Amino acid sequence: MNSYAPYSQFNVGAALLAADGRVFTGANIENASLGLSICAERVALGAAISAGARSFSAVAVAGEGALGILPCGACRQALAEFSPSMIVLRCHPDGSFDSRSLADLVPAPFTGGELELAGA
Ligand code: THU
Repeated sequence: MNSYAPYSQFNVGAALLAADGRVFTGANIENASLGLSICAERVALGAAISAGARSFSAVAVAGEGALGILPCGACRQALAEFSPSMIVLRCHPDGSFDSRSLADLVPAPFTGGELELAGA
């Protein structure tokens, strides 16, 4: 409901369930400088991390369109930083949802360990 998407008209909401039971929500925030737009998932993640949460059981995402949406690649990577096998719930307009593991969506996230291999 609080999505700010005047450029795409594509409203997205996300809710992150932390391991301690707290729920953090976010909506996409667009900007006239389009590249500055932030996805709903990363807004929710920012709220959660800022409040001290570090581990998550699930994320639910609701977007426009008949099929609902899955998190974009950047958001998958950002979520995987904290809980690579959290459940991802894709909400459908009729209130139903489907679910999968984040590990299925991003089976090989960048972890930083690669930096050591590169000699950094
Ligand atoms: N968007 C999200 O909020 N989450 C996603 O996973 C994909 C895309 C937003 C960004 C932009 O405001 C709008 O949807 C259209 O791309």
